[in-house]
Amino acid sequence: MEDFLLDTLLDRTVVLGYSRWGYRLRRRGWAQDDPPAGSLRGKVVLVTGASSGLGEAAAIDLAKLGAAVVLVVRNVERGERTLERVREAVPEADVSTARCDLSDPGSVREFAATRSRVDVLLHNAGVLPKERTENADGHELTLATHVLGPLLLTELLRPVLRESADARVILMSSGGMYTQALAVDDPEYRQGTFRGATAYARTKRMQAELTPLLSQRWSGDGIGAYCLHPGWADTPGVADSLPGFQRLTSKLLRTPAEGADTAVWLAATRPAPPSGRFWHDRRERPLHLLPRTRPAAGQRERLLRYCLEAIGL
Ligand SMILES: NC(=O)c1ccc[n+]([C@@H]2O[C@H](COP(=O)([O-])OP(=O)(O)OC[C@H]3O[C@@H](n4cnc5c(N)ncnc54)[C@H](OP(=O)(O)O)[C@@H]3O)[C@@H](O)[C@H]2O)c1
Repeated sequence: MEDFLLDTLLDRTVVLGYSRWGYRLRRRGWAQDDPPAGSLRGKVVLVTGASSGLGEAAAIDLAKLGAAVVLVVRNVERGERTLERVREAVPEADVSTARCDLSDPGSVREFAATRSRVDVLLHNAGVLPKERTENADGHELTLATHVLGPLLLTELLRPVLRESADARVILMSSGGMYTQALAVDDPEYRQGTFRGATAYARTKRMQAELTPLLSQRWSGDGIGAYCLHPGWADTPGVADSLPGFQRLTSKLLRTPAEGADTAVWLAATRPAPPSGRFWHDRRERPLHLLPRTRPAAGQRERLLRYCLEAIGL
């Protein structure tokens, strides 16, 4: 009970909970809860956006648990350098790279066609662009990278995931989503002045709101769907996109491994956690902290229809 109260207090204070202190305080209660050595032996885990930051840290910890890890990267040279770092950290790692640009449907299709075995799909790739740009199909970049690309890849991999005894699809959202409502009337951010941080947070909100629907959609194939936010971690992405934030909070930021912890836990813990929920620091979290962000009835379903149509399903 005491742990639960401390955990909830950390969550609602945001700054403390998302920081390294939140992670370290909570971690004290997790000693029994770490997935045991070898928990992912025999499993194939795809990690998108694995060339830096949280993706790289997750890849290392997944490899430590025995998974065959595929670093799914858009830049193969960067991916090869990451592969070397993963092998340095985990000499026995079963790790490889594969090219896929999540914002490019052609690239996603090409990549998906090469996969014959997947047990866990960690959708970690993320961007925070300064200006509004579109992919080849005319979809705004954060929507394409955070929502449409992951949806397309998962849909294409469904026949492969179905073969796994315990398939899990994990979406890396952001605590920034708490600030935004579901942008169902303007999912492509065509109206108003474009702000990268808003586009980012809106599409992270979409990931969290769609997860319960995707969980239902995929449950017939035995695929679990999970969404999480990692807190605030010191990664190249944060340093590049939010240099002011990084400078101000550098003493508070988590290590990449601390930020990646819950994604790795969701991939490996047994039995599988309940599907369709939102997680942070290994606990289920609310989808809303502000009443104004709650979607009206039918909005989530409308957004899912839009996304499925946008990817051609
Ligand atoms: N760090 C945090 O505090 C924090 C907080 C909340 C949420 N997150 C989320 O955590 C995830 C990882 O973030 P990070 O902080 O580790 O950032 P990062 O260091 O910038 O890593 C992002 C990764 O995504 C890749 N990527 C971007 N666009 C891609 C695309 N179209 N196709 C394939 N890969 C692509 C990048 O590849 P390149 O190397 O080629 O650029 C990079 O490997 C993101 O989804 C982010 O939104 C992070």
